[in-house]
Amino acid sequence: MVYNYFIFCLSLPFFISILYNVSAMKKKVSIIGAGNVGATTAQLVVQSGLADVVLFDVVEGMPQGKALDMAEACPLWNSSSAMKGTNRYEDTAGSDIIVITAGLARKPGMSRSDLLHANANIVRGVSTEIAQFSPYSVIIVVTNPMDVMAQLAWKTTEFSSKRVMGMGGILDASRLAAFLSWELNVSPEDIEALVLGGHGDDMVPLPRFTTVKGIPLTELLPKKKIASLIERTRNGGAEIVALLKVGSAYYAPAASTFQMIKSILLDEKRMLPCTAFLNGEYGVKDIYVGAPVILGKEGVERIVEIKLTKEEKSQFKKSCESVRKLIKNLGI
Ligand code: NAI
Ligand code: 2OP
Repeated sequence: MVYNYFIFCLSLPFFISILYNVSAMKKKVSIIGAGNVGATTAQLVVQSGLADVVLFDVVEGMPQGKALDMAEACPLWNSSSAMKGTNRYEDTAGSDIIVITAGLARKPGMSRSDLLHANANIVRGVSTEIAQFSPYSVIIVVTNPMDVMAQLAWKTTEFSSKRVMGMGGILDASRLAAFLSWELNVSPEDIEALVLGGHGDDMVPLPRFTTVKGIPLTELLPKKKIASLIERTRNGGAEIVALLKVGSAYYAPAASTFQMIKSILLDEKRMLPCTAFLNGEYGVKDIYVGAPVILGKEGVERIVEIKLTKEEKSQFKKSCESVRKLIKNLGI
């Protein structure tokens, strides 16, 4: 008895140190698709030092090369995050967050929905692997058409809808905020923009809820000017595709994705416009579409409902119908 007690006391510090190390271990973020958005997101996470990162792609050598390059920058970034590039899902096992950026990007003249079937095959396969290797992860879907791909990832993984979401509204709102800061000659820091609905051609930018230091946009600019900035926001992705000729935007998309990752990892509970599963909110049921949500360690912890005018409601409904049409087209 005394002997057992003696052994217990001796081993206690050992078990405490294991517990401490496990709780102090960095979180793991895996990014599936090491192309423009994926690699730039990986860079932001590693540079922040918030998590270890695994960068996965089907192209051999490419994620390994990009990961090695970023790992060699860590001393310059003062980051202790570990970085691994891989073509094996085993390396993503036990991830806390998985970002899906795998798939084709738009070419000039293409809309996001033109990517539907090709990207659905990819996202279905990726989601199956995630469910097997990281069954407790939170998934952020970026691949387009994003709202439908989020729905597909949720259906395929059978995860709680809280743990599957999509990135789109933050990017659209950031574009609107950038255009406004140029128009009004004010710092973008003082602008709060809000865009709801699907991340598609009929997204719903909301001038009533877009403010400069709390002053609604509707009091700062004439209707006609607001309408032209909203049009530019809706066309924001295509404007960049037309300029790049090859590929689509990735700096702002990666920064938007990083904002979501950070809010989840640090349990910040930020209110951000993200694509989430609506189950009656806004009068919409059973589809993934953009709405303000509270993002914390559980994923989508709450969907925030705001009162819309008749006109805003009808725009939101139209956007939801477009998403629903694509979901139907995919047969999910
Ligand atoms: P990219 O072409 O630079 O990268 C895509 C990567 O996915 C490639 O490296 C490719 O090898 C990889 N890939 C293809 N099949 C795969 C598979 N089965 N498993 C793993 N990796 C695979 O494209 P980019 O610019 O990074 O865009 C990625 C996706 O994100 C596109 O669908 C694009 O439309 C979408 N996107 C969505 C945004 C949003 O706001 N939701 C914003 C920007 C892009
Ligand atoms: C964008 O809005 C392509 O969805 C992407 O830039």
